[in-house]
Amino acid sequence: MNGASPSTLLVDGDYASWRSQALLALAAGWTPEAVTWVERDSIISVTPAQMPLDYPTTAPVVCDARTRGAGAHSDSIGLRVSISSTLASLLQDAALYRSPQRWALLYRVLWRWWHGDRAVASAADEDGARLHTMARSVRRAKHDMIAYVRFHRRGGAGMPEYLAWYEPEHDVLAYAAEHFARRMGTSSWWIGTPQGAALWDGAALQLSAVSGDAATIRADAAVDEVESLWLAYYKSTFNPARLNEMALHQHMPVRFWKHLPEGPLIPAMIADARSGARRVAQASAVRTMTGKQVAVDAQRARPSRPIPSSLDECRRCELWRNATQAVPGHGPETARMMLIGEQPGDHEDLTGRAFVGPAGQVLDEALRRAGVPRDAVFLTNAVKHFKWIAHGKRRMHKTPAQREVHACAHWLEQELARVRPAVIVTLGATALGAVLRRNVNLQDYLHAPVRLGDAWLIATWHPSYALRVDGAAAREAIVAAIGKAVACGRQLATAAVDAH
Ligand code: URA
Repeated sequence: MNGASPSTLLVDGDYASWRSQALLALAAGWTPEAVTWVERDSIISVTPAQMPLDYPTTAPVVCDARTRGAGAHSDSIGLRVSISSTLASLLQDAALYRSPQRWALLYRVLWRWWHGDRAVASAADEDGARLHTMARSVRRAKHDMIAYVRFHRRGGAGMPEYLAWYEPEHDVLAYAAEHFARRMGTSSWWIGTPQGAALWDGAALQLSAVSGDAATIRADAAVDEVESLWLAYYKSTFNPARLNEMALHQHMPVRFWKHLPEGPLIPAMIADARSGARRVAQASAVRTMTGKQVAVDAQRARPSRPIPSSLDECRRCELWRNATQAVPGHGPETARMMLIGEQPGDHEDLTGRAFVGPAGQVLDEALRRAGVPRDAVFLTNAVKHFKWIAHGKRRMHKTPAQREVHACAHWLEQELARVRPAVIVTLGATALGAVLRRNVNLQDYLHAPVRLGDAWLIATWHPSYALRVDGAAAREAIVAAIGKAVACGRQLATAAVDAH
C-alpha cells in the first residue's frame, strides 16, 4: 500500500458507488489529498495505465451503522468501519448534493472518522459544518420535490396514467419516486427531470438516467383535462385583500411556480392585488386633492423586508434558499484597499470564503503582479449568496438580478462603513453598479478613478471575464487597476499627512 500515490476514483453518481470506492481507498491507506474523485459520466476514458498499481482488487467489508449486518459477509481485506447512524444519514443525504466536490468532502469526513477524529461529525467542525449544510439543503430539496411535483392526467394507450415534469435542485428523484410509489398505489406515473426519469407501472419502479426530449415531455406533461377546473377554483379562492406576499414567497418559492399549473396565474394576481391595495389606500386622500395624478413606482411602493441581525439569517431575497451559506467579505478591518466582486461562485459557496475558486486564482495572480499581498486587502462581493442554475451535475453561475443586488446592499454598506477603505476596486459591472447604486456602463468607468466621498473608486473587469475570453488584455487591465489603486491610496495618505 502506498498512502501517497495520487489516485483517481470513479463514482457512478450515487452513495453506494462512492462508499465502495471510499472503503477501497481507506483500505489502501490513501489520504484525502491523494485521491481525486471523478463522476463516471464526466470521464471520456480511463486507461489501465492510469489505474494505481496498489489498487486493491477484492472488496473490503463495508459496514456502517445501517448496514452492520451486511458487513459480516466476505472479508478479504478485513476493513471494518463503524459510523454512527447520525453520520450515516448525513453522508447519505450529502451524497445527493449536486456539487463536483461532494465525494471528496465525504471521503475526508470518513477518513477523519476512521482515524478517530469524531469532531468531524459536528456542525462546529469546518468539514462537519459543510456536511451538515449540504445534508440540510438536500433534505429541503426532498421536501420541495414532494410538495411541488404536479401530476397531469394522461393515460393514452401504453402510456402511464399521470405525467409530471420537475427540476430538482439536488439528486432527489429516487427518494421522491419511492414516496410517490407508496402514495399512489396502482396508478401508473412517470416523472421526468433534466437528469433522469422515474417510471412506476403500478407495481415496479424504474429509474433511468435518460429522460428523453425534455421539451416534448414538458409539453405533454402540461396537458390535463382537469386542469382548467383547478385553475378556475384557484382563481376563485384567491382573495387580493388578504394577500401576504412574503408568506406566499416563503411557502411557495418563485422557482417552483413554473411546475405548477396555477404558477402562471400568480404574478398577474399579485399585480392586481397590489394595484387594488394602492388604489384603496390612496383613494380617500386623492379624492380631496386637486392637481395632476402621479404614478407610483410599484417597486418603491412595496414595503422593504426587515434587515436581519446577521448575514447568515438574511432572507431579504430568495438566493439563500439554493446557497450552501452566505459568504461575507474578509480581510483586515484596517485595509486601505477593498476589492469587490459580484457574488460567490461554486467554490466560495462551499468554503464560505470569497475568491477561492478559478476567478480567485486570476485575482491572486493580478495582486501578486501588482505587488499587493492578498492578506493586506479586504475582499468581498456585492451579493453574498451564490446564484446558480443546474447544468447537468454542475452548478453554473447566474448573474444576480438588480433586486438581489439591491437587497444585499445593506451588507456591502456595512462592510464599507466598517473598513472605510481609501480605495475601492470594483471587479465587473455588478460590483460597480452596487457601489454607485445605479445601473452603469462599465466601459464608461474603466479609464479613470472616480472620487466617492473620501475614497477613490477604480473600476475594472471581473477576473472571470478574463477566464471566459481567455483575455491577456483583461488580466493586464486588472493588474493595472490594482496598481492604480495603490498609487491613489498613497496619494491620499500623502495628502492626509500634508494636511496635518
Ligand atoms: N466571483 C466573484 O465575483 N466573487 C467570488 O468570490 C468568486 C467569484
